[in-house]
Amino acid sequence: MIEALLPGERAIWLVKAVHIAAIAIWSGGLVSLPVLMLRRRGLTGEAVHDLHRIVRYLHVEIVSPAAFVAVIAGMALIFMREIFFVWFIAKLYFIAVLVACHLGLGQMISRTFLLDRPMGRVTVSFAIVAALIGITGVLFFVLAKPILSLTAIAGEAAEPGWLEDSVVGPLISLLISLTK
Ligand code: HEM
Repeated sequence: MIEALLPGERAIWLVKAVHIAAIAIWSGGLVSLPVLMLRRRGLTGEAVHDLHRIVRYLHVEIVSPAAFVAVIAGMALIFMREIFFVWFIAKLYFIAVLVACHLGLGQMISRTFLLDRPMGRVTVSFAIVAALIGITGVLFFVLAKPILSLTAIAGEAAEPGWLEDSVVGPLISLLISLTK
């Protein structure tokens, strides 16, 4: 079947395959690493260092590079597939949730192992639920591709001139007033 594809389409399939494989690793890490962190409780001595090594290896060498590859491949797909739709903006909101989870995970690792303050079940459950919400939201928008109005997603920000009226204009006025 793949021989029947045009060269351009082949490239799209390849980049999409890389994107989805990287997403799978990234999402898996965001859900499973917080669970590993729970195992810190009750450990002492060398066992703590072993767990730290495993968690750090997974976060630094596997999950973070996968996140990077996923984002780069996703950005390439925007232009290869010419995805300029409102559902994609909605998808970006949920990607922001996943990025926040990723940053939070780094914080959790530092707190658990460098500050020696192990995570509780509530924090870990919160991290997992937030990651699952992000993953489900992204998958919903990218697979269902619902037809949405820009106003529904961005509200008044979709109106021409909104940025200038609400942010840029007042900011410039403030800067000018500071120079007086
Ligand atoms: C900055 C991050 C991301 C960008 C820029 C991005 C961008 C894209 C683009 C442009 C496509 C092609 C859509 C199409 O062919 O109709 C795509 C496909 C896809 N993305 Fe992402 N994406 C990102 C993150 C994610 C995440 C976090 C997930 C899942 C949790 C995800 C899951 C998928 C899936 C399953 C597809 C295949 C959809 C299909 O072929 O119908 N993406 N992505």
